[in-house]
Amino acid sequence: MDYEEFSAQIKKICNIDLSNYKEKQMKRRIDSLKKRNGHDNYESYLKQLIHSKEHLREFLNYITINVSEFFRNPAQWEVLEKEIIPELISGKSTLKIWSSACSTGEEPYSLAMMLDKMNLLNRAVIIASDIDKEAIEDAKEGIYTPKQVANVPKQMLDTYFTKEGNNYVIKDKIKKSVDFKIINLLNDPFPSKCDLILCRNVMIYFTEEAKEKLYKKFYDALSDDGIFFVGSTEQIIMPQKYGFTSRRHFFYQKIIAGKTNN
Ligand SMILES: C[S@@+](CC[C@H](N)C(=O)[O-])C[C@H]1O[C@@H](n2cnc3c(N)ncnc32)[C@H](O)[C@@H]1O
Repeated sequence: MDYEEFSAQIKKICNIDLSNYKEKQMKRRIDSLKKRNGHDNYESYLKQLIHSKEHLREFLNYITINVSEFFRNPAQWEVLEKEIIPELISGKSTLKIWSSACSTGEEPYSLAMMLDKMNLLNRAVIIASDIDKEAIEDAKEGIYTPKQVANVPKQMLDTYFTKEGNNYVIKDKIKKSVDFKIINLLNDPFPSKCDLILCRNVMIYFTEEAKEKLYKKFYDALSDDGIFFVGSTEQIIMPQKYGFTSRRHFFYQKIIAGKTNN
């Protein structure tokens, strides 16, 4: 069995199409995990994945790469707070925001805390999704280690978390403001009319073809003038090609044909 056949079987088992992910990088990750589990061929590793939920879980965790942080790349969150959100909310009663690869919740909870600090949380609808069911379960629980909350400003930590033993638990007010869902970006329908979409640190794993499709889907999912916020290594080359204009580094605005944006 070669990598292609292994990928086809994985698609059948867990509906993840590995061909949308950069092959060299993905293959290297899978090969190293396969070896770590004592297999020198795809066939026997696949058998183990089929028969052991635990190993399948490990495999999915490993390939989806759940690493996240609160306020990841703080300078960009500063732009979001000081410029993007105030502009988006002006003239609107509510904001619809989608954190589209939210992992274990750090990103949507950062949004909710920031909006609460700005007195805007009651005017926001926050949807947060990921392909990874277990990451979403963890996100819903909202329990974080001291290392995970290292980026959270002290005042926010005191206001929005309760200390339980060694861990920090996100308070209900923030937790309840986020609607968590499972969405596979590559297969599933997207929410519509979003004023702000975050898709950060996941596109880097996708092939160019998959990225192109996704930029179009994200464009369609945005409201007029909506903003698309990407990760710090994921700038869009030629945003105009997909109907976006660059507002600030890592922030793209949807352009409506025939309408000028100043
Ligand atoms: C590195 S984390 C990024 C988390 C967060 N956005 C951030 O920047 O800190 C990448 C996330 O993308 C998710 N992911 C990978 N493939 C996906 C797909 N096809 N659809 C939705 N989420 C996906 C993974 O499960 C993982 O939680």
